Amino acid sequence: MREAGVRTAANERLLDELLQAVRAVHGEDFSAYRREYLWRRVCRRLEREGLRTLEELLARARADPAVLLRLRRELMLQVTAMFRDPEFYRAVREEVVPWLRTYPRPCLWVAGCATGEELYSYLVLLHEEGLLERTRLYATDLDAEALAQAAAGVLDAPSLAEAQRRHLQAGGRRPLADHFHEAVGSARVPAEWLGNVVFSVHNLISDASFQQFHFISCRNVLMYLDEAARRRALALLHESLVPLGVLALGNGESLLGFSRRDDYVALHPLEMLYRRMR
Ligand SMILES: C[S@@+](CC[C@H](N)C(=O)[O-])C[C@H]1O[C@@H](n2cnc3c(N)ncnc32)[C@H](O)[C@@H]1O
Repeated sequence: MREAGVRTAANERLLDELLQAVRAVHGEDFSAYRREYLWRRVCRRLEREGLRTLEELLARARADPAVLLRLRRELMLQVTAMFRDPEFYRAVREEVVPWLRTYPRPCLWVAGCATGEELYSYLVLLHEEGLLERTRLYATDLDAEALAQAAAGVLDAPSLAEAQRRHLQAGGRRPLADHFHEAVGSARVPAEWLGNVVFSVHNLISDASFQQFHFISCRNVLMYLDEAARRRALALLHESLVPLGVLALGNGESLLGFSRRDDYVALHPLEMLYRRMR
């Protein structure tokens, strides 16, 4: 561990070999992700495996599929929460929903939806605004495992309880738990809500645009990509927006460096909501 985090040429090569091992078995290609991010994740895995060097981690990952799988999961980073950044959801409610209402069949894409919490936040919000029944939603992620969890629509009770306050801060109209079906230690998203959602594996770096949307939420994904991949993903999101469509990015993410940046106006400078004007 002492030398593992030091970015020597030898360690850079070992990191590449670890990424190749993940790609060979699981298929995901992490070569377009920010190097600092990959370093952080791999060093964390090393620590959690109780190992000291990248050579040791590589040897273990090659010998033991469970270690390789844990490394893959570490790299995927499924950190998410319902109504994460309540002010953002308040801004969506106030700035985007009235405009969505003007369409008979609004179309919404949650790109990089992880295990579903972001999608569920939109389902609650649209339901509260009386818009869910006529909205078509798409939820995609690179990670099929996370997506299957999202499609299952089960939340653990503590995460739901923890999201109550954020939901109210976001302008929530009823107690959050009222929207879900209770089960032992968990809560279920109503099946009729999930019926409005198409779930699909989709890679924002290498897959094509598949439809045009009125609203795309791609939060806390681009921040992990290197510059070229981030621009590619932004071009794909741009192509997938109808004129006047709205793109939501995560806090700390922006259109900086994107060639079509001038085609957008910020709807809410603090909350990363952009309207496509051209
Ligand atoms: C930190 S989570 C963000 C989850 C959610 N958007 C949120 O803000 O709470 C990042 C998600 O991006 C997904 N992801 C990473 N690279 C991707 C890619 N190239 N295409 C699609 N999804 C990707 C990961 O699998 C993970 O689920």
